[in-house]
Amino acid sequence: MAKTAIVTGCSSGIGLESALELARAGYTVYAGLRDEARAGPLKDGSSKDGSDIKTFQVNVADGESVRSAAGRILDEAGSIDVLVNNAGYGLFGSIEDISIQDMRKQFETNFFGAVEMIQQLAPGMRAQKSGRIINISSVAGRIGFPCSPAYVSSKFALEGLSECLRYELGAHGVQTVLIEPGVVKTKFMDNASMKAPKAGSPYAEITEKVIAGIRMMAELGTQATDVAKIVLKAATDPDPLPRYVVGNDAVMFLESKKTMTDAEFEDYIKKELY
Ligand SMILES: NC(=O)c1ccc[n+]([C@@H]2O[C@H](COP(=O)([O-])OP(=O)(O)OC[C@H]3O[C@@H](n4cnc5c(N)ncnc54)[C@H](OP(=O)(O)O)[C@@H]3O)[C@@H](O)[C@H]2O)c1
Repeated sequence: MAKTAIVTGCSSGIGLESALELARAGYTVYAGLRDEARAGPLKDGSSKDGSDIKTFQVNVADGESVRSAAGRILDEAGSIDVLVNNAGYGLFGSIEDISIQDMRKQFETNFFGAVEMIQQLAPGMRAQKSGRIINISSVAGRIGFPCSPAYVSSKFALEGLSECLRYELGAHGVQTVLIEPGVVKTKFMDNASMKAPKAGSPYAEITEKVIAGIRMMAELGTQATDVAKIVLKAATDPDPLPRYVVGNDAVMFLESKKTMTDAEFEDYIKKELY
């Protein structure tokens, strides 16, 4: 029988390509969309491939939406083999330029959205003694940089959660895996929330530099299709790694962090940015 996967955030980018990649590999895919009117690219892709993708509406920042979507899918599919927590967005702005509400909203989607999906699906996976939870983190889940404290903290939280679940759920046959891409060429920066520095903010210059830097890197960034291939690998590897780093930029940053002292690494980032 075909294995079943759920992917959140499938209107574009990594979620869209991961849903298509899993469907091409034979998974029955439930692709989550916050707005089902944005299913066009998913439907075009699946009809081109001849694969069968079922869409469902979910806003991961809304607990009721997650609970009712998960309940409907479990009723229909019976069991879930793979959950890809992909839905997310970037929030850029210094700690003094974002509000606490901005920060909470960032966590509601990037962190609590994943938590709630996992809470709905982990009991079934544990009962069947198998399953994969694939959390789309980022190189920003391992490295902090200026003017992105909300985004970085939400991804660090996802990393911490995933490490805990490797023990808790791992003991019951359910594996948790992190995907850590560098900059990927998607709509991420267009969809990001940019908090303009307040008048006279001392962070104006560095905010502009960071955002321009990411936009520039995105032009040359890893393709979402390449990240999707790694998502499939994480779903199918007999013995999956705890984390998969994707993209030359991510490999370079994380290797540097591993081989340098904290002070050396900070100096290196400062030289790049300031
Ligand atoms: N692009 C990068 O450089 C990069 C690098 C590392 C990690 N990532 C991570 O990869 C994931 C996907 O990003 P992407 O690059 O593919 O960007 P994207 O093209 O902007 O896709 C983001 C997806 O998440 C959905 N989404 C956002 N908030 C949601 C919510 N509350 N409920 C349900 N869906 C929601 C969006 O749906 P709507 O159409 O409704 O907005 C969209 O489908 C994110 O978690 C991101 O942090 C991206």
